[in-house]
Amino acid sequence: MKYYILFGPPGAGKGTQAAAMVEKFNLCHTSTGELLRKEIAEGSPLGIKAKELIDKGLLVPDEVVQGMIGNRFDTIGGVDGFLLDGFPRTIAQAEALDGMLASRGGEVTAVVSLMIPDEMIFERIRHRAAIEGRKDDASDETIANRIRTYHDKTEPLVDFYKKAGKYVEIDGTGTIEEVRDKIFAALG
Ligand code: AP5
Ligand code: MG
Repeated sequence: MKYYILFGPPGAGKGTQAAAMVEKFNLCHTSTGELLRKEIAEGSPLGIKAKELIDKGLLVPDEVVQGMIGNRFDTIGGVDGFLLDGFPRTIAQAEALDGMLASRGGEVTAVVSLMIPDEMIFERIRHRAAIEGRKDDASDETIANRIRTYHDKTEPLVDFYKKAGKYVEIDGTGTIEEVRDKIFAALG
């Protein structure tokens, strides 16, 4: 089994590029953000708790997303691997993931890191706000908080995965097709 991670700040194009990767490598797309938005839409107890944090641009607790990922690994079959989009986002999540994969006889295949400057994050998310209506896209303050959370909590994973020899950085600033081609070229 292949275990790819799509890494990057908010609005970097993780969800967009996931579509092409999933098709090419026959992967199960697992976006913790999408799974959480589903819980919110259903009004589940988990969704109600998560909504408060997500709307402020904060992370939900590690155990919550780790549980979601473990559940996907346990229940999804018929694929050649998983594409983790937006997970892990903290060092603790990355360590938990290593443990989950080791117990399945697997390991992270590669971390595809889409990098765009902070100004471009605002442009892309403001554009998407009009199309998708995500509550956490609606105000510049929430977007700024998400960017801050990314730099504080998530960016340390760059070194974590560089040290593990898994880190593949892709310039995320080109067109959707240009970025896709760079990802495919890098993964071979
Ligand atoms: P999540 O849903 O993962 O949001 P995010 O990381 O902020 O990323 P986005 O989904 O906003 O952006 P994206 O990189 O997918 O970009 P997209 O392809 O849509 O998480 C939401 C929240 O859930 C978090 O804030 C947190 O609270 C919680 N959460 C999730 N995972 C968690 C975890 N592991 N631990 C704890 N909490 C967690 O593209 C953006 C826009 O740009 C689109 O309109 C797109 O069409 C456009 N676009 C994409 N590529 C290009 C391009 N090359 N050129 C021009 N436009 C482009
Ligand atoms: Mg996304």
